[in-house]
Amino acid sequence: MKLILCKTYEEMSSAAADEIAELLQVNPHCTLGLATGSTPVGMYRQLVRRYEKGELDFSEVTTFNLDEYYPISPKNDQSYYYFMHENLFDHINVAPENINIPNGSAPDPLAECRYYEDKLTANGFVDLQVLGIGQNGHIGFNEPDGCLYASTHITELTESTITANSRFFESEDDVPRKALTMGIGTILKSKKILLLANGKAKHDAISALLDDRITTAIPATILKTHPNVILICDEEAYYG
Ligand code: PGA
Repeated sequence: MKLILCKTYEEMSSAAADEIAELLQVNPHCTLGLATGSTPVGMYRQLVRRYEKGELDFSEVTTFNLDEYYPISPKNDQSYYYFMHENLFDHINVAPENINIPNGSAPDPLAECRYYEDKLTANGFVDLQVLGIGQNGHIGFNEPDGCLYASTHITELTESTITANSRFFESEDDVPRKALTMGIGTILKSKKILLLANGKAKHDAISALLDDRITTAIPATILKTHPNVILICDEEAYYG
């Protein structure tokens, strides 16, 4: 795992945007795996700024998002569909037909998961996957558990994730209890992975990435088996 240690959140966001810009330059038809949450917001801001300056072109890019709450309407301002449009898609020239996000209002969630995994498979998975990390070490909504899932699946959120994410909702009761998420195997099929983390609250999860142990109790530790991961983090996440 390569480490890019940054002094500030802005520096981190810029380093992450550089990785995407570099990929777009060598492969304008690339597929980006995208993440939500507060961590990548600065990176999206940078990408929008660079697009507005004419430095980036997303016209041939395909995107696949990691996950979505279930059930949730795309119109709900806490849905990841809404988040991605507000933070990125509405401000760049990505083609709407090239945007893929698990459908949080699909009537049959199992069929939706199969459809999503099949679409990823047909696409050859993603060239670059952006990941945040939960305080509990989750990636996507692959929560700590005795066993993890390989493919896109529906999952229950843990109490710690519900509490962590309740800051975005009016109350904890409003946080959906389930989500559709790429599986660990789906994520590991990405050609390259960018893992972003900032702030002291992520220190324990980041520390677990820095030794040789792998445990399903901290799902992100599985990234140690991937040959091309870049950890971009700030000093608080790294040193605590
Ligand atoms: P955050 O979430 O970026 O809002 O901290 C990350 C995650 O839960 O994966």
